[in-house]
Amino acid sequence: MDRLQVSGGIRLSGEVRASGAKNAALPILAASLLADAPLTIGNVPHLRDVTTMIELLGRMGARVTVGERLQVEVDARAISEPFAPYELVRTMRASILVLGPLVARHHEARVSLPGGCAIGARPVDLHVAGLEALGAEVRIEGGYIHARAGRLTGARIVLDTVTVTGTENLMMAATLARGRTVIENAAREPEVVDLAACLNAMGAAVSGAGTDTIVIEGRERLGGCAYTVLPDRIETGTFLVAGAITGGRVRVGGARPEHVDAVLGKLREAGAAVTTGADWIELDMQGRRPLAVDVRTAPYPAFPTDMQAQFAALDAVADGVSTIVETVFENRYMHLLELQRLGADLSLDGRTAVIRGVPRLSGAPVMATDLRASASLVLAGLVAEGTTDIARIYHIDRGYERFEEKLGQLGARIRRVSGPA
Ligand code: UD1
Repeated sequence: MDRLQVSGGIRLSGEVRASGAKNAALPILAASLLADAPLTIGNVPHLRDVTTMIELLGRMGARVTVGERLQVEVDARAISEPFAPYELVRTMRASILVLGPLVARHHEARVSLPGGCAIGARPVDLHVAGLEALGAEVRIEGGYIHARAGRLTGARIVLDTVTVTGTENLMMAATLARGRTVIENAAREPEVVDLAACLNAMGAAVSGAGTDTIVIEGRERLGGCAYTVLPDRIETGTFLVAGAITGGRVRVGGARPEHVDAVLGKLREAGAAVTTGADWIELDMQGRRPLAVDVRTAPYPAFPTDMQAQFAALDAVADGVSTIVETVFENRYMHLLELQRLGADLSLDGRTAVIRGVPRLSGAPVMATDLRASASLVLAGLVAEGTTDIARIYHIDRGYERFEEKLGQLGARIRRVSGPA
């Protein structure tokens, strides 16, 4: 199994380009199941989660062509097997995104329950209840969600909790329902907006995406379209933290500054000079040690849970004491134990972590536990003395495109090695 070895102590400097957003590419790939014609999707990041989604679509009978320049064409007209098996769903929870489109367009779906997850229970009850409200008949049996429906019927759905993929699943299903669907307490993430724009390009009538009320006027059919996925705001934020933690100067090109407001605010609070243009962000730490910043995660536009682990790494070496409160996932703190192995001084009480910044960390073997946790260990490794050896980096490959290569472009000493530690 591959590992990453990071030698700390280099101040990062230079420019990287943001890749397409994983969390937009996945629902947009799933949306191809709704169409009567092929979809051409551009700026698709080359990631393991994307490969998993493509494999899933392929197994169902879709014809998928992966072209040059990050373009993927999906022709899902002939779905023969509306089935998402456990072996794929357990490696990628976002597989649940095929449920809504399958029920709406193919009137049937069998999708494995995602099962346990390293960052909390993460149930899918709201996806299921929403589909039932739209008229689907759902049975949970043998670890699978079995759903059947004739043509779905529009309904008013109030989500108890803000759920990103739940909003996306129901929005997709509603595009082919009879009549109007209103989703209240909808997620406002930019990826939801990107999916809505793609659905509209396919002929759907979705309005209000980006607010907490999304209205969908159902259509008889949707066609194909060409759509370009928006840049990844979490990858963007991760590279900016890499600049900040090393006291460096990093520019991220092809980015959308308006999608990372909360993160940029925290980086400024940490002492970074941040400048932005229409499609770039530059961070300059001028060699300074970051100041400790408090973080409280919440749905967009608040501070994203997907950036919490990276800020924990920043706070571990910051000047001062900080508090991190994770409100989205109850157990998203696995990285803290690993950061402690690198010398971080912290304590955890329920959903609140208190981190007392130390002047330096020291390299050690550590283990990646989930996608963003892995990124935080790499960031910590960039400033730890000596070598940090990170195992189980398949988590990183799920969501960061050419991570070590891009960090290398900024001057980091990082290499991928194969075999056991
Ligand atoms: C998405 C993102 C993930 C991000 C998360 C929160 C994708 C592919 N993944 O995950 O990177 O960390 O949003 O920003 O876009 N919940 C329920 N019942 C449900 C659904 C969710 O109780 O039916 C709860 C979850 O347990 C969690 C909260 O709602 O506590 C938010 O989860 P949700 O927004 O659904 O996360 P995902 O969509 O899985």
